[in-house]
Amino acid sequence: MKVGIFDSGLGGLTVVSAIQKVFKGADIFYIADTAYAPYGEKTPEQILERCDNITEYLLKKHGIEALIVACNTATSAAIVHLRNKFPFLILVGTEPGIKPAVLASKTSKIGVLATPSTLKGNKYQDLVNELASIKQVEIYEQACIGLVEQIEKGEIDSKKTFEMLEKWLSPMKNKNVDTIVLGCTHYPLVDSVIKKIMGKDVNLIETGNAIANRLLVLSSQKKHINEGNLNISVCYTGEINMKMIERILKNKNIEVRNCKI
Ligand code: DGL
Repeated sequence: MKVGIFDSGLGGLTVVSAIQKVFKGADIFYIADTAYAPYGEKTPEQILERCDNITEYLLKKHGIEALIVACNTATSAAIVHLRNKFPFLILVGTEPGIKPAVLASKTSKIGVLATPSTLKGNKYQDLVNELASIKQVEIYEQACIGLVEQIEKGEIDSKKTFEMLEKWLSPMKNKNVDTIVLGCTHYPLVDSVIKKIMGKDVNLIETGNAIANRLLVLSSQKKHINEGNLNISVCYTGEINMKMIERILKNKNIEVRNCKI
């Protein structure tokens, strides 16, 4: 099976990393749209146009049968459009794990870290409204402006990244938040910093494993045989930090190249 996966940059590789653990017998074509990153500070129209262009590219160039939108921001802006325009594709999007967070929290206080665009989008608002019917919880939302750029630069352990996160997370810690939704696929890359601030027992909710399992279920319905090698190639539209790719995928033999989309 040929699978296209994209994000604005390195973040979606956290999803690829989860896929690597369960999915076999496929070619993965990953697009890091770094020329247009960060998506989270763009308008929904601008994001939708990029999603459309990237999907067309993956279809024409690689003949993909499945597409994973490994980005909460892009899913919020474009998944409905993509489902309508490409109904023949297996399509999996990414949504903040609000429901698992509500179920995991003992203090009924959860924090949500995401991009400004995701927090403003209807998809996120719908998820939060749905949750009101499950359990009474207090939600503390934080748009993490500038965090994606820090991660793209590979500045995981820098003082600046720590201080940014500390400013956003300390108020949550003071309110007894015990569960944090990582509502952007880049943020699992700073999980160790978040734990340093919130304490090691904080529940961090990410969605890479759920997406990988969904791909497995949907592809097996299309008769995919989950055996053999998984080949991964990475294509970036602007610039990319190679060391971060190796760090995330724990593999030095990934084909990485620049492409124009
Ligand atoms: N990784 C993306 C997400 O999950 C967006 C990052 C960006 O702002 O470009 O939302």
